[in-house]
Amino acid sequence: MGENMGQTQGNGGALYIKNLRTHFFTRNGVAPAVDDVTISIPRKGIVGVVGESGCGKSVTALSVLRLVSSPGKIVSGSIVLDGEDLVSKSPREMRQIRGNKVSMIFQEPMTSLNPVYTVGKQVVEAMILHQGAGKKEARDRAIEMFKAVGIPEAEKRFGSYPHQLSGGLRQRVMIAMAMVCRPKLMIADEPTTALDVTIEAQILHQMKELERTTDTSIMLITHNMGVVAEICDYVYVMYAGRIMEQANVFDLFDHTMHPYTTGLLNSIPRSGRGGGRLYNIKGMVPSLLNLPEGCRFRPRCEHAAPECGKFEPELYEADRGHWVRCYRYRDCGGGDME
Ligand SMILES: Nc1ncnc2c1ncn2[C@@H]1O[C@H](COP(=O)(O)OP(=O)(O)OP(=O)(O)O)[C@@H](O)[C@H]1O
Ligand SMILES: [Mg+2]
Repeated sequence: MGENMGQTQGNGGALYIKNLRTHFFTRNGVAPAVDDVTISIPRKGIVGVVGESGCGKSVTALSVLRLVSSPGKIVSGSIVLDGEDLVSKSPREMRQIRGNKVSMIFQEPMTSLNPVYTVGKQVVEAMILHQGAGKKEARDRAIEMFKAVGIPEAEKRFGSYPHQLSGGLRQRVMIAMAMVCRPKLMIADEPTTALDVTIEAQILHQMKELERTTDTSIMLITHNMGVVAEICDYVYVMYAGRIMEQANVFDLFDHTMHPYTTGLLNSIPRSGRGGGRLYNIKGMVPSLLNLPEGCRFRPRCEHAAPECGKFEPELYEADRGHWVRCYRYRDCGGGDME
């Protein structure tokens, strides 16, 4: 197999994660949470990373920021941001890069706001620290961004402490903080999952604006294919630490190749109230400590053939910019929605 760089091959992408392996060295064995993952994010692009719970999305993002905690460890691969390999950076250099070049919206927002300062002060400090903005300018821009991400009474909320805000408002503060610093790269890990659909739409719109008006690249992690359809340009589908399919968003939806992707598409939550699932992929994500032989999705796959249990398929460019890890993609793709 040649190098797999999807549609962004060689165009000076802002972030290039190449053959990344991040493993957890647990008492019961080694869990390959991220197992030879290659993801390329172009300048000014929104790239989605999707997959069910536990498939390695957050660990991929945390690897980029070098925030994987013990017993996890980057075992091999490179993470090149703007021409520099982050894997070999010192902790001090990484601190500079985080927040300065890269902003992350974490999946658990409460852990990333400091409880003893007002949210306004935290956003302003971040802008002063990482951007050298003046105090007044920082304050004005921050309040503007609070409004843009749907924080009502933005001026008043500016002086609130994190515990005085609802979870949804705290999450919006985190999103505002990430966006206002105009990073080169923004990694958003399930940024809108906890928010209602109107606010979600507003925030997705703001992200698109950020990408359109600056040269920020966005890596958007989600399990929601509806969100992907809404704003992503290119999509990586992860399963059990592996990329199973990658394509631009139109090809992924219209010419789905991997049965796993088809399953994800069939389980798009109903829009509006409840968000109930129409369908779930049968079976469970395998334990990383006990992966099946051959294709990792085989035990859950309706199309599995004998060869699927023998050797794991490689990621293969089946169409231009459209890669799939499946022997049977010709027979089972097509985005069959029933
Ligand atoms: N501290 C840890 N110790 C051991 N294994 C871990 C640890 N953290 C993560 N893992 C392993 O890494 C895998 C991937 O976790 P990750 O958080 O990246 O999943 P995810 O795709 O972000 O899921 P979700 O949609 O639930 O956020 C997990 O299934 C788990 O096996
Ligand atoms: Mg996660």
